[in-house]
Amino acid sequence: MFSYYGALSTEVYDFTKPVGYSIDGDIEYYLERLKTCKGRILEAAVGSGRFMIPFLEAGYIVDGIDYSPEMLNSCRERCEERGYNPNLYEEDLKRFSLPSNYEAIMIPTGSFCLIENREDSLSALKCFFKHLVSGGRLIVDLELLHGWKTGEISTSTFSLPSGDGIMMESKSIEIDWLNQKTVSYIKYEKWRKGKLIETELQRFAMRWYGIEEFKLILESVGFSEITCSAAYNYKQQPSNVSQIITFEAVRK
Ligand SMILES: C[S@@+](CC[C@H](N)C(=O)[O-])C[C@H]1O[C@@H](n2cnc3c(N)ncnc32)[C@H](O)[C@@H]1O
Repeated sequence: MFSYYGALSTEVYDFTKPVGYSIDGDIEYYLERLKTCKGRILEAAVGSGRFMIPFLEAGYIVDGIDYSPEMLNSCRERCEERGYNPNLYEEDLKRFSLPSNYEAIMIPTGSFCLIENREDSLSALKCFFKHLVSGGRLIVDLELLHGWKTGEISTSTFSLPSGDGIMMESKSIEIDWLNQKTVSYIKYEKWRKGKLIETELQRFAMRWYGIEEFKLILESVGFSEITCSAAYNYKQQPSNVSQIITFEAVRK
């Protein structure tokens, strides 16, 4: 019934978040945090390269992993247009095995929260740990739960350069307090000269974590030197639930 980051979702993502489009300063923050990194970097949930390509442009060796073929195709195209040919792996973060180990693994903008189940997110963290070299670092953003209203609908329309338009309607379906997740449905409709030509329905689940809880999970996987920062200010304590929380942790 559902698609996950399919063709229309990718088209909207690419239109609204072009390469190098910084979300609240995420690209600048990660570039600064990784400025001493000399080795290979992995972006987990790389999407269509908004975040990865500025790292390639800055001279880093970056691989990407994502489970959406549409997002990866767009990423590949945008890289090729700029003369880059990074390793892009079509894999699920829940269980993956790549040929390289990394000096850093980064997963910005709350994409980690898209892993819906507790067991799967633990398994993803174990995979990250396994793919880090000794001394390697995981940098992961989390979004906290805020502003949820079951039943709320928001609608946006995008006029594409081709003359077509995409209407995106997001409906907040349910909140599961016990399992710490919300589910929304996102309906995409592509219109041409007043006629509906393509549609797509995405199930969008987000899991949230307590700050202390996530630190304990990272410790249980074996990470150390764990720091937590808010709103892309290194080691700034969170003061507001709408802030992005960034954890950094080292595999010793
Ligand atoms: C919001 S996009 C972020 C893309 C990119 N990191 C950025 O910041 O622009 C989220 C991406 O996570 C990917 N994703 C979500 N769950 C995943 C999973 N379990 N395994 C692999 N990729 C996943 C989606 O396919 C999508 O491309």
